[in-house]
Amino acid sequence: MTTKQIHLPEMGCGTWAWGNRLLWDYQESMDSQLQEVFDLCVHNGVTLFDTGDSYGTGKLKGRSEILLGKFYQDYQGVNQDKICLATKLAPYPWRLTRKAMVDAGLASAQRMGRNIDLVQMHWSTANYLPPQEWQLLAGLGDLFEQGLVKGVGLSNYGSKTLRKVHQRFQERGIQIKTLQVQYSLLSTYPVEELGVKDTCDQLGIKLIAYSPLALGILTGKYSETNLPKGIRGWSCKQILPGAMSLLNCLRAIAEEKQKTMAQVAINWCICKGAIPIPGAKNPDQAKQNIGAIGWRLDRGEVIELDKEASKIKKPMVQNPFQSK
Ligand SMILES: NC(=O)c1ccc[n+]([C@@H]2O[C@H](COP(=O)([O-])OP(=O)(O)OC[C@H]3O[C@@H](n4cnc5c(N)ncnc54)[C@H](OP(=O)(O)O)[C@@H]3O)[C@@H](O)[C@H]2O)c1
Repeated sequence: MTTKQIHLPEMGCGTWAWGNRLLWDYQESMDSQLQEVFDLCVHNGVTLFDTGDSYGTGKLKGRSEILLGKFYQDYQGVNQDKICLATKLAPYPWRLTRKAMVDAGLASAQRMGRNIDLVQMHWSTANYLPPQEWQLLAGLGDLFEQGLVKGVGLSNYGSKTLRKVHQRFQERGIQIKTLQVQYSLLSTYPVEELGVKDTCDQLGIKLIAYSPLALGILTGKYSETNLPKGIRGWSCKQILPGAMSLLNCLRAIAEEKQKTMAQVAINWCICKGAIPIPGAKNPDQAKQNIGAIGWRLDRGEVIELDKEASKIKKPMVQNPFQSK
């Protein structure tokens, strides 16, 4: 069995913030701006949108999927046929059977008002409840075999667990399309230490880089006297002091190239062979991020950035469920 056509562009757009008040300060009044973000992205070829059935806080749970579905229905213009709505289904402790995963996929599709294009397992339960994982992965495969999704992907898996799942899916004739991990100049662990890029290349899987801006730190707009609110501010405060040399290097390269720091940070991910999915909360951010595609950093600039990244003692915190 082969996967139906999914178009994977050079870069995508993350939508975790769309509906999340707790971490991202989302307000419903942002919706028209978010629709502009969607339209701008699609118009410029950024046609992959990443969401999750756990996105949205409190009563807003599922909001990101609902908004994406609405924006998709409303969109009129170029690249419509290339749009890929990718959601992640969470292996909640109460989702225990393969049917539970199929039902979760159907619920996401209902919120979006259309079928999911790419369905991804949000994280691995290998570290704490391995038997649950195989049931849920079987359900993910069922969604594909029943023609309810065009492709299957994983998230927060390391090389060892990825290989096991790949083998199991191969036995069913299903090719895993994508793996997403936290990958940025401040989060090189999954690629450098777990070797996920090499494994993906060997298995024919495309790597997606989530949080490529390290939740905004790599844009250079935050400092010890200008921190984002809440938990994000706390995390920034821990990381910023040790990241100054890296940020200075990013700034110098950005100036030299007449790009912004965000564009250079995103382009670094592209140069590493990953598809970055930076989050954007307004059209200005989206326009800037779109300016990260269509060009490449020089080899020397990538090496310089790698050198700075390797000196980081306090990187971004990894997802606790990231498997080995
Ligand atoms: N699989 C997983 O477990 C997982 C985990 C995390 C994320 N993700 C996915 O990856 C996507 C991207 O990651 P992320 O949203 O966590 O973080 P990110 O892309 O590293 O940072 C996004 C945030 O940075 C700020 N920003 C974006 N572009 C900017 C620009 N050009 N100039 C200035 N500020 C800018 C915005 O927040 P402010 O304006 O508030 O600063 C924006 O929400 C998510 O939306 C989600 O789809 C997946």
